[in-house]
Amino acid sequence: MATLSEKVLTKSARNSKTEQNGSGAEVEDTGATSTTSTTGATRPVRPAAPSTPVLSVRDVHISDQAAGQEIVHGVNFTLTPGRSVGIVGESGSGKTLTCRATLGILPAHFEVTGGSIEIDGQDISGLSSAQWTALRGATISAVFQDPASYLNPSIRVGAQIAEVLKVKKGLKRGEARRQAIDLLHAVHLRDPDLVYGQYTYELSGGMLQRVLIAAAIAADPRILIADEATTALDVTVQAEILDLLADLRERTGLALVLVSHDLAVVAQLCDEVLVMRQGEVVEQGPTHEVLHNPQHEYTRLLIAEHEQYGLDKFLGTDAVEPAKTDALDTADAVKEDA
Ligand SMILES: Nc1ncnc2c1ncn2[C@@H]1O[C@H](COP(=O)(O)OP(=O)(O)O)[C@@H](O)[C@H]1O
Ligand SMILES: [Mg+2]
Repeated sequence: MATLSEKVLTKSARNSKTEQNGSGAEVEDTGATSTTSTTGATRPVRPAAPSTPVLSVRDVHISDQAAGQEIVHGVNFTLTPGRSVGIVGESGSGKTLTCRATLGILPAHFEVTGGSIEIDGQDISGLSSAQWTALRGATISAVFQDPASYLNPSIRVGAQIAEVLKVKKGLKRGEARRQAIDLLHAVHLRDPDLVYGQYTYELSGGMLQRVLIAAAIAADPRILIADEATTALDVTVQAEILDLLADLRERTGLALVLVSHDLAVVAQLCDEVLVMRQGEVVEQGPTHEVLHNPQHEYTRLLIAEHEQYGLDKFLGTDAVEPAKTDALDTADAVKEDA
C-alpha cells in the first residue's frame, strides 16, 4: 500500500469543506519542557549553530517538461532551526510546486530545472528512494489541505499515527500507542484515548487536521511544510492549530514553511515572507518589513485585499512577533496500511 507521503506526491490538492471542530475549542497547556519534543525525544531548543540551515532553496526553477514550459522562475530561501518562512501569492503562482519540489514529490512531467535544494546540508537531487524514505517524516514532513484524503478510512486514526512511530522511530507496539496518544494530546484533542480508536468518518475536519498534524510531527521532523493546511478550517480551530505550530517551533526548533493565502496568518507566524506571482518571487524579506513597507505593487494589492479580513491587528506594535508563533502543516510518512 502507498504510504501517506506517496499519496501526498501523487494526489492533487483538493479543497475540503469547512467544518466545525466537533470537540470544541479546547486549549490546554501541554506542559512540555523546553527540551522535550512532543514525543519525548530530546532536541535542543536553541540550536548550537543557529546559522546552519536545515533547508536551503537556491534559485530553484521548476518546469513542466510535457509542456516545455518553465513554471517557477527562481525561488530562494533558507531556514535555520526554529525559523519560519511564509509563501503568499495568487492561485497558480507556484507555491505548491515549490513545496513539492522541496519534498521531492513533484507531479509527473515536472522537474527542478535549475538551482538546488538542500535538506540538512544534503543536496536532494541525487537522493535514492530509500534515502527519501529515511528523510520523509523524520527530517522533513508536510501537512496539506483536505486531511481526510491522507488518512485511511478503514484504520483507526491512532493506529495510523502509531504506525509512523513504529516505522520511523522503531517503537514497539505499546510504546507507539502511548506516544500516539501523547501526540493526540499535544495537538489539543480533548479525549486522546477516545480519538485514538476512532475512524476518520467519526471526526470533524478540524479534528482530522489535528490528527494529520500529529502524524506529521510524530517522527520529530526538523522541517514542516504546511501548504494551506488550515485554510479550510473554522477560524477558531485555525487559530488553535497555528498556536500549536508556534509552540512546536519554540519548543523543538521546528523550521516551518507556511503557504497561505492569508497574510494575517503569515504575519502572525513567519519571520520572512516570499510574495509570488506567476512563478516569480516579486518581493521577499522580513515579514514585518514587507507587510509594513511593501515595495512591489502586487504586494500592496494583496495587503489592501486582506485589510478587510483583519490584517490590521497583526500589523500593530507587537503584531509581527516571529518568536511567538510558528509552524505549519505536513503530512508525511504515515503508513496507510498501519
Ligand atoms: N499536477 C499538475 N499538472 C499540471 N499543471 C500543474 C500541476 N500542478 C501545478 N500545475 C500548474 O503549475 C502552476 C503552479 O501551480 P501551483 O504551484 O499548484 O500554484 P499555487 O500553489 O501557487 O496555487 C499552475 O499554473 C498550475 O496550473
Ligand atoms: Mg497551492
